[in-house]
Amino acid sequence: MNVSCDDAVRLHVEERGVGIPVLLVHGFPHDHTLWAPQLGTPDGIARLIAPDLRGFGRSAWEGTEATMDRYADDLACVLEALAVPSAVVCGLSMGGYVALALWRRHPERVSALVLADTRAGADDDAARAKREELIHVARDEGAAAVAERMIEGMVGKSTRDRAPQISADVRTMLERQPVPAIVAALGAMRDRPDSRPTLATITVPTLIVVGEEDALTPPSEAQAMHAAIAGSRLEILAGAGHVSNVERPAAFNALLREFLAGLP
Ligand code: MLT
Repeated sequence: MNVSCDDAVRLHVEERGVGIPVLLVHGFPHDHTLWAPQLGTPDGIARLIAPDLRGFGRSAWEGTEATMDRYADDLACVLEALAVPSAVVCGLSMGGYVALALWRRHPERVSALVLADTRAGADDDAARAKREELIHVARDEGAAAVAERMIEGMVGKSTRDRAPQISADVRTMLERQPVPAIVAALGAMRDRPDSRPTLATITVPTLIVVGEEDALTPPSEAQAMHAAIAGSRLEILAGAGHVSNVERPAAFNALLREFLAGLP
C-alpha cells in the first residue's frame, strides 16, 4: 500500500502476516527488500510492516533534504494510516537511528525495540567528512559508485566468502537507490543528534542484535547500548557482518520470534 504523509511524499509499505505489529526500518542505502528474509517467512505471530523511507525504493518523494526526525515522523504517519496504535520497532543501522528518533518523538507508538547493527552516538568530525565525500561521489558518479565503496563494509567477510550471491543481491539493492534519497540520507546521518542520552530513557523491552563481523557498527557499539539500556538483551551473531538479518536469516528470525513471544 501507499501512504501520503505530506504533499511531497508517498511512502510505499509492504505488509505480511498477522499478529504483533513489527515495523521493520531499513538502513542506508537500502529499501524494504532488506527485510526479504523476514517478509518471506511469516511466523504466525507477527504482522510485519516494512516501509521504504522517503525517496528510497518505491517511495516517491520530491524533496531534497531529510532528518532522522522527519523519517521518524513518517513512520508515525504510516502506523496512524494502518490504524496500528503501537509496534515493535526493529531498525537496522540507519533504521536504528530512526527507531531512536521515533522513541524520542512518539514513544507511545513504540511497544518494544530491536536495534540491529546500529549505534547511538552521532558522527564525529572524521565521519562527517566521509559523509561529505560520499555526497560528492553520489552526485558525480551515481548510486553504483556509492555501492562500490560501501559493499565491503556492508556484508561480512564470512558471508562474502561463503555466499557471494548474498553480496551480489545486497549490492543490487544499493545500486538501485535514487541519488536524491542517498544524498538526503547522508546529510541526515551527518547531522543526526547524539542518541546516547536517549538510551537511559528507554523503558520498553529492547533486543540488540549485531553481526560479530560488523565493520560499520561493530559489536563494541552494541555492547555500549546494551550497558546503557536497562534490561536490554544483547545477541551477537557469529559469521555475520553489517546486514545480519540477511546474512544469518534463520538465526535472526529465531531471535525475533523468541523476543516477540516473550513480550508482555
Ligand atoms: C547503514 O547501513 O544504514 C549505514 O551504513 C549507517 C551509517 O553509515 O552510519
